[in-house]
Amino acid sequence: MIKTVGVIGAGTMGNGIAQVFAQSGFSVTLVDVAQPMLDRARTTIEKSLGKFVDKGKLTAADRDASMARLQTATSVDRLADADYVVEAIVENAETKRGLFTSLDAITKPDVILASNTSSISITLLGAATKRPDKVLGMHFMNPVPLMTLVEMIRGQATSNESMRIASGLCTTLGKTPIEAADYPGFIANRILMPMINEAIFAVMEGVGTAEAIDAVMKLGMNHPMGPLTLADFIGLDVCLAILNVLHDGIGDPKYRPCPLLRRMVAAGHLGRKSGQGFYSY
Ligand SMILES: NC(=O)c1ccc[n+]([C@@H]2O[C@H](COP(=O)([O-])OP(=O)(O)OC[C@H]3O[C@@H](n4cnc5c(N)ncnc54)[C@H](O)[C@@H]3O)[C@@H](O)[C@H]2O)c1
Repeated sequence: MIKTVGVIGAGTMGNGIAQVFAQSGFSVTLVDVAQPMLDRARTTIEKSLGKFVDKGKLTAADRDASMARLQTATSVDRLADADYVVEAIVENAETKRGLFTSLDAITKPDVILASNTSSISITLLGAATKRPDKVLGMHFMNPVPLMTLVEMIRGQATSNESMRIASGLCTTLGKTPIEAADYPGFIANRILMPMINEAIFAVMEGVGTAEAIDAVMKLGMNHPMGPLTLADFIGLDVCLAILNVLHDGIGDPKYRPCPLLRRMVAAGHLGRKSGQGFYSY
C-alpha cells in the first residue's frame, strides 16, 4: 500500500509533482539540495492550490489538508520510510545515476524508483541500482497540476508489475498514463524538441521575430502557446539538455542543438525561471 511518496528536486517539475500527490491524499516528502528551492516550492504549491480554491475546484479545508501532508527535507536520508519515489532533479545522466544508487541503498527494497526525466535512458538509471525491475519513467508534463498526460517509460528490465502499479498511481492522481519505449526523448520530446529547436534556428536566421514565430504557430496551427514561449516555460537549459540526449543518442544531425540556444544558456538566459529568455519576465 503506497501512502508516503518521496519527490526529489523542488524545481519547476518537482513542486508540481509533490502538489498532485499531496492533493490526492498521499503524505509527501519533497527533497532538494537547496533550501531556498524548498521554500519557494512551498509558496508555489500554496499559490497553485489557492487558484483551485478560487475556481471552486477545491475547498479551503482540502487546500489546508494538502499543505499539511507536505514535508520538506534537504537530504534523501529522509526517504527511508517512503513507499514510492519520483526523481525530478537536473537533466544530467551522471547526476541522476548517482542519486539512483543512493536511493537504492536508502529506500526499502520493494519501493519503485521513478524518474521524471525528459529524455535520459531509464535502462541506464535502472542499471545504477540493484532493482532495475523497479525503475521506470514517470514523465509528468508542465504545469503538472493542469496537464493530464503522464508518459510512462519501460526500461529494458522494468517489470510488468512495476508498470502496473505506477500506471495505477497515475489514474489515482487523475492523470492518463501513456506508455513509451526507452528511446532518447521517448515520444513527447522526440517530437516536441525538434520543433522548438527549429523555431530557435528561425529566430537566429532572421526568418521572423520570436513574437512572429509564436503568432504563426498559435494562429496558424492552433497551438495554445508558441514554441518560443513554451521553450521559456520549460527552461532553455532543460531544452538544451534534452536536445543533447537526442543528438547523442539517435546520432542524426537533425537534432543538433541550435547555436543560439547554446549561447543563451551559456549567458544564463534560461527563460521564465531566470527572468530572461526569448521574452523578459
Ligand atoms: N521543465 C519542464 O517543463 C520539464 C517537463 C517534464 C520533465 N522535466 C524533467 O524534470 C526534471 C527536473 O526538471 P526541472 O525543469 O524541474 O528542473 P529545475 O532546474 O527547475 O529543478 C531542478 C532541481 O533539482 C535540484 N537538484 C539538483 N541536483 C539535486 C540532487 N542531487 N538532489 C536533490 N535535488 C537536486 C535543484 O536544486 C533544483 O531545485 C528533469 O529531468 C527534466 O528533464 C522537465
